[in-house]
Amino acid sequence: MNYIELAQKAREAQNGSYSPYSKFRVGAALLTDDGEVILGANVENASYGLTSCAERNAITRAINDGKRKFKAMAVVGDMDEYCTPCGACRQVMDEFCGKEFEIVLINSKDELKILKMNDILPFSFNGEHLV
Ligand code: THU
Repeated sequence: MNYIELAQKAREAQNGSYSPYSKFRVGAALLTDDGEVILGANVENASYGLTSCAERNAITRAINDGKRKFKAMAVVGDMDEYCTPCGACRQVMDEFCGKEFEIVLINSKDELKILKMNDILPFSFNGEHLV
């Protein structure tokens, strides 16, 4: 699975979005170490703050499936520009994905931008601080 294919999977994942309030569908495709792809989409709530983002939903689904090692995640939103993960999602990614984990963003022109975990959340607070 290359990153172009992974980005296309993120587009497919947008179909699972429940976003009646923002009408902004976000799709995420999480690539595991063994080449599996797990999809997630945003799920909104009438109590807006309870909305869960596509990225976190993909991670939650993967963790619940027993997956623990991840290589990359592609993310796409209903916008021309790249849809970058929110701060809460960066923190959750950091819990499970190493500093070399790659975030693959795709814009409306099908151009890719690849970011590293360490670049989007440097100096993170993580489990190492608690032992
Ligand atoms: N959203 C995501 O799912 N991921 C992001 O990276 C940014 C925002 C969702 C949350 C909400 O359903 C909608 O996009 C608008 O904020």
